[in-house]
Amino acid sequence: TGHTTLDYGFVNTASTASAITYIDGDQGILRYRGYPIEQIAKNSSFLEVAWLLIYGELPSASELADFDDRIRRHTLLHEDLKRFFSALPDGAHPMAVLSSAVSALSTYYEHQSDPANPEHVELNIIRLLAKLPVIAAYAHKKSIGQAFLYPDNSLSFVDNFLRLNFGVMSEPYEVNPVMSRALERLLILHEDHEQNASTSTVRLVGSTGADQFASVSAGIHALSGPLHGGANEAVLKMLAQIRDSGQSVQRFVERVKNKEDGVKLMGFGHRVYKNYDPRAKLVKESADEVLTALGVTDPLLDLAKELEEIALNDDYFKERRLYPNVDFYTGVIYKAMGFPTRMFTVLFAIGRLPGWLAHWRELTLDPKTKIGRPQQLFTGSPERQYPTA
Ligand code: CMC
Repeated sequence: TGHTTLDYGFVNTASTASAITYIDGDQGILRYRGYPIEQIAKNSSFLEVAWLLIYGELPSASELADFDDRIRRHTLLHEDLKRFFSALPDGAHPMAVLSSAVSALSTYYEHQSDPANPEHVELNIIRLLAKLPVIAAYAHKKSIGQAFLYPDNSLSFVDNFLRLNFGVMSEPYEVNPVMSRALERLLILHEDHEQNASTSTVRLVGSTGADQFASVSAGIHALSGPLHGGANEAVLKMLAQIRDSGQSVQRFVERVKNKEDGVKLMGFGHRVYKNYDPRAKLVKESADEVLTALGVTDPLLDLAKELEEIALNDDYFKERRLYPNVDFYTGVIYKAMGFPTRMFTVLFAIGRLPGWLAHWRELTLDPKTKIGRPQQLFTGSPERQYPTA
């Protein structure tokens, strides 16, 4: 009140204080609870990082074992919820399926989703971590017309997810350890990124007193856009289009620079990073390694590298400090693993879930939290008289 400042896109306005993730965009630094992302990616596991983000410290061995065990025991979906998938059209986008199913999930736990009840909050952290990958895999199975498998709780978080996606009913599924480790690393790199659009959405919805299911479902919708998580899908489509057009990479870059038809270099640029995205560096390092280990050669990886090389040496991109972001190389790896392009952003959602849960919890525990309610600058008509006959 008093003086409202106009800040399109919140470029200069902090909406909250937070102790979870630190980013220095000029230097390309990312830390989860103080630990550099490079050390985390090398040494940690997805669930260990989830615990770290949510509770602030690395778990002890027994805390982690207990957390993992509880998550394994909550993977089943209610059979009625499984029928929900058949109400959606064939070819439904898996991101839309995911957010709708998480919304629907809330109806099963209405009696246990009071944001002010710590037991409910902890239980729903477990439920969401356990069930989101299962829903995601069913969204995938639905999109290819295959039967849903039951989770196998003898498997780790990532291995269970791989089996649910790629296993078929009648045959045993052997998890490829290279693929498992590679996917776990990618998921870890996505776990949190402070006040990005989807996390801010989760916080805004949470600030109204809505529960974790409602908040996470809204976060998934926010993530789906091509300027945010949807960029990983858009990158692969862009690479395929360049390949199929027969145009040179240089010509494509010219089109981007001339802003022809609003075309952008997807997977490039970031609101916060004005330097190489440290996650993109790690993803790029593993792209060659993973494709080689999986015995896959993909000309799209060479195309991506060529595109990066040309862009990084071009004044347009240099002046604007545009570098590859996390989404630039992930798609090529997901594709090598066998995921269809439309599943890429769903994988981002599974990765980001711990961050959303950590921010939702931080928000609800913070006594300073208020309902999020931005101001506006009114640019419409002054008072006028309704015409009467
Ligand atoms: N290709 C071409 N030009 C670009 C790009 C791009 N990818 N990104 C920014 N620019 C230009 C933009 O046109 C503007 O130029 P000018 O000053 O001539 O108008 C200048 O760079 C500044 O860009 P901006 O739009 O003010 O930057 P922003 O902070 O509002 O947007 C962004 C950030 C990520 C939305 C944007 O860089 C973008 O659209 N990138 C492509 C989509 C993408 O890869 N998104 C993933 C983000 S990373 C993780 C995630 O959330 O998934």
